Amino acid sequence: MTVAVGIDRLGFYTPSLYLEMTDLAEARGDDPAKYHIGIGQDKQAVIPPTQDVVTMAANAAEQILTAENRQAIKMVLFGTESGVDNSKATAVYLAHLLQLPADTRAIEIKQACYGATAGLQLAADYVRSHPTAQVLVIGSDIARYGLRSAGEVTQGGGAVAMLVTADPQILVLDAESSYHTEDVMDFWRPLGRTEALVDGKYSTNVYLDFFKTVWRTYQQQTDRAIADFAALAFHIPFTKMGLKALRQVLPEATPEQQETLQAAFEASQRDNRQVGNLYTGSLYLSLLSLLRHGDLVAGDRIGCFSYGSGAEGEFYSGVLQPNYRQGFDDAALTALLANRRAVSVAEYEALYTQRLDLQGADRQLAVGTDSAAYYLAGRQHQQRQYRHR
Ligand code: COA
Repeated sequence: MTVAVGIDRLGFYTPSLYLEMTDLAEARGDDPAKYHIGIGQDKQAVIPPTQDVVTMAANAAEQILTAENRQAIKMVLFGTESGVDNSKATAVYLAHLLQLPADTRAIEIKQACYGATAGLQLAADYVRSHPTAQVLVIGSDIARYGLRSAGEVTQGGGAVAMLVTADPQILVLDAESSYHTEDVMDFWRPLGRTEALVDGKYSTNVYLDFFKTVWRTYQQQTDRAIADFAALAFHIPFTKMGLKALRQVLPEATPEQQETLQAAFEASQRDNRQVGNLYTGSLYLSLLSLLRHGDLVAGDRIGCFSYGSGAEGEFYSGVLQPNYRQGFDDAALTALLANRRAVSVAEYEALYTQRLDLQGADRQLAVGTDSAAYYLAGRQHQQRQYRHR
């Protein structure tokens, strides 16, 4: 008998500071409409030095863990492209912080913004053959491009945590998916560099080409067409990129369905507009945003396009379950986004330079106003000091 497997719970965390895109545009001498309409971003998460990918992942995972599912987690798959060690996996720090049982596999996965999708698919395959096991999948990143660079407007950060189980509450994944890999230099970060090298326009074109390729292959594999989808969710490092992808396939839909897909896209980008780029978590924040703000019902099929520069693309799908709204804490997520504090451009620029550099001396960090449950207190003997309050 085939086991229904997929996403049972979704959690999200972003730090408590943000920058208004109007303020950034004015400081850089740009028209704010370029940022809000041309790029499609309204706010950008600002990451204090006391948060990194591990603490953000722990803060996101805490939302979806109970005493019961902690015991059932047999694997932690941590997708990130802003890891904190060349050898030790972020997943090991995370499993310890969350006090998961020791009989857990804990592994970091890297392929640019595709890491969390690789984790999700590997987790689903594992649970199909071990139906009582649960897998914690993380997408956690800090998107940094450099002050006054073209990519500055597409920064951000945060973490998504997913629990992958049999008979999931949110989304049962379809077994078929299509994927595509090519060796492309559109975005990369050589060892030792803290900011990525990127050709943003080329990257957007590769992303759009990959979407066309995997969408076509998926349709051939499954005999499904656009009419089978209530919504499409995209990797959206900036929301205009997803809109461009959607526009590529809209002509395949009837006028009525075009409206449905456009409304779903609006819902799927609402939260991302407030947070900015999450790299590998972007698609999953978008999926969460779609579930929170969209008009979906049980049985609806959702298509997801994942893209990681370098490059890997995948299109997969899943069917929404009757109790999907119980798989995330809508009120807590609304409060998380609403209770953040806006920082000035000067404060953002100061925070940008205050984070623990990767090769520097040991240092204690001032916790300041960071009230998150998990935080980074500094580095001692070249070891990161994680704390839980
Ligand atoms: N009002 C409304 N829209 C405006 C505008 C204004 N005053 N001025 C410009 N725009 C529009 C442009 O027409 C363009 O829209 P289009 O893409 O639909 O043509 C958009 O704003 C961006 O303008 P552009 O001049 O192309 O911006 P840019 O040279 O500053 O670069 C990115 C934008 C996205 C390429 C850049 O921010 C970047 O490289 N980001 C990183 C992207 C990335 O990380 N990719 C890899 C991850 S998958």
